Amino acid sequence: MESKILEVVGLNAYYGDHLVLKDINAAFPERKATAIMGPSGCGKSTLIRTLNRMHEMNIGARVEGKILLHGENILTVNPIVLRRKIGMVFQRPNPFPTMSIYDNVIAGYKLNGVNLPKLERDQIVEKSLNSAALWNEVKDKLHKRGTFLSGGQQQRLCIARALAMNPDVLLLDEPTSALDPKATSHIEELIVDLKKEVSIILVTHNIAQAGRVSDYTAFMYLGELIEFGPTEKLFTVPEDKRTEEYLSGKFG
Ligand SMILES: Nc1ncnc2c1ncn2[C@@H]1O[C@H](COP(=O)(O)OP(=O)(O)OP(=O)(O)O)[C@@H](O)[C@H]1O
Ligand SMILES: [Mg+2]
Repeated sequence: MESKILEVVGLNAYYGDHLVLKDINAAFPERKATAIMGPSGCGKSTLIRTLNRMHEMNIGARVEGKILLHGENILTVNPIVLRRKIGMVFQRPNPFPTMSIYDNVIAGYKLNGVNLPKLERDQIVEKSLNSAALWNEVKDKLHKRGTFLSGGQQQRLCIARALAMNPDVLLLDEPTSALDPKATSHIEELIVDLKKEVSIILVTHNIAQAGRVSDYTAFMYLGELIEFGPTEKLFTVPEDKRTEEYLSGKFG
């Protein structure tokens, strides 16, 4: 496997007494897309929310084990600093409703108390919107509200907002499940393109989507990581019967 960017070692995650991730061990490759699949409730969102320490924000929630970013245990890194390196985009596009497109893209810097000169801000906004394949559509209305955009454009705006911080890893939790097929394929193309600059971890229920965009796939079941490997191998010759049953639509 390629060099790994993020490694999870003996990871358990709880909501109160409820153990929802059970001894997860995985290494996520650098500048590749890894899909996380599995039936509803198996712990996909919880897993990616542990990776940027959002899981711990739930009352009573906790994590055991190690999560290493470039070999450094993130569970000891200030979460605010960490989220600059590990960005996240959610199922429903959530641009800040009162902010312009421009201010949405640059919001991470404001939240971090970083004051950049206008020229530098302009450059970051343009570069990030370009990377999110949105620049051409919005360059003439940067000071309109982000919520004026279509759902697919809003989702790309959220991706631009995450990319503006220049993250090492981009976490995407079912980023297209609220979008129509055209907006979905636009985001899929974008994911394939973005792998050149950022490592992507994508939760998806859509097996065809995982096949189209991911290099590696993780299959989870009831809080366990059942199988992790190159997508092509996992899809054609899965090692575990449960992976095979899931992929053939027997459950999930
Ligand atoms: N805030 C919460 N408080 C308590 N339990 C939770 C919370 N969020 C999730 N859970 C539980 O943790 C388990 C894993 O949930 P999670 O949301 O990670 O699953 P998922 O694989 O993302 O599911 P889906 O495909 O439906 O999004 C489930 O049993 C769920 O009920
Ligand atoms: Mg989920």
